[in-house]
Amino acid sequence: MDRIFQDKINDLKKQNLYRDQNSINERLSRQKELINFSSNDYLGLAECSISGISNVAQIPFGSSGSRLTTGTHLEHKELEDCISNWKGCEDTIIFSSGYLANLGALSALIDKEDVVFIDELAHSCMWDALRIHNVRKYIFAHNDSQELKTLIQKYRHQYTNSFIITESVFSMDGDIAPLGDLKAIADEYSSFLYIDEAHSTGIYGITGAGLISEYKEKNPKHDFSNLIQMGTLSKAIGLEGGYISGSSFLIDFLRNKARTYVYSTASSPFLMKIAQHNIQKIIQENDLRQKLFNNIKYLDSLLTNLQAKNEANIKNKFHWTNFGSPIFTIQFQDINECLTVSNKLLEKGFICTSIRPPTVKIPRLRICISSKHTHHQILSFCTALSIALAA
Ligand SMILES: Cc1ncc(COP(=O)(O)O)c(C=O)c1O
Repeated sequence: MDRIFQDKINDLKKQNLYRDQNSINERLSRQKELINFSSNDYLGLAECSISGISNVAQIPFGSSGSRLTTGTHLEHKELEDCISNWKGCEDTIIFSSGYLANLGALSALIDKEDVVFIDELAHSCMWDALRIHNVRKYIFAHNDSQELKTLIQKYRHQYTNSFIITESVFSMDGDIAPLGDLKAIADEYSSFLYIDEAHSTGIYGITGAGLISEYKEKNPKHDFSNLIQMGTLSKAIGLEGGYISGSSFLIDFLRNKARTYVYSTASSPFLMKIAQHNIQKIIQENDLRQKLFNNIKYLDSLLTNLQAKNEANIKNKFHWTNFGSPIFTIQFQDINECLTVSNKLLEKGFICTSIRPPTVKIPRLRICISSKHTHHQILSFCTALSIALAA
């Protein structure tokens, strides 16, 4: 019987799509000496210690049950209130991961009579949610609000409720959704606007609450009742977990109907306390975000120089993008070439993982900048990158 899986693995290997656990284990053994340029820990909070957090020793690690049975602790409630205040929403519901937040929320919210308009590059967990009930969906080209408008004009009237689904900062490209246009279309066609803020939370807005909050700050008079915000505790907040923020009725409904909330053990109360602490840190320590944006600019300038200076053989391989977010990409036509550059960087002491199909269509190095990187580390990384590309 095992042959079946062995054959499937061999197929993956033939296509260069096999994800090798040995190389991950090898990386673990060198972890202390490696500098990570692929982490979602954009503000360096994943490595903070618990010293300075009051009463943390009394908080249990385990929740002991699902949220609707015995799993709800004071720390869950406090964190939900903290996120609601931060995001300017009436209420928030926490899930044990961002994946489960999207899966649980979307599969609960969308019925058979409803319709979805979704950006082609939306994260896999949103697509997985739509698959559960085989939802009626129309896909618009990435960030193409014109195509969205054409589709919604044509099909919206046939359905009961309508949902526009996208990310504010795209996880694999680092570019940013046209939020103003999407909100205007959602308003005009009586649709909900569901935005995954996984990669924008902690980074944008006066207090780091994300791009939606930044948009709200600029448009305080708009009605935001059709907005549903999803976020994670796993990127800039540096931990694990996900949440949905919105109106009280929306969240109350999800507490009753989101299956990944109802039928799953509640997150660790201890983690909830640390998450609250990290959010306070983000709100109070504006310099964390300033350092991050300073590093983004620095890497941008180094890559621009690298592209300008280098010989033709590097230039051919060197198509990079950045849109002012912490996520940069260098795209390759060939998976092998992408893997080779990633391995060469690892030899030189840098983690910069290659992202391959089916996660993305075009193979790429996904470079993530953090506020913790020093300029010296960023410069050394670029030097190693230029050598790896030239080889
Ligand atoms: C855009 C986006 N949404 C959701 C998720 C899932 O979040 P989590 O890692 O917390 O499960 C991710 C993480 O990879 C993501 O990039």
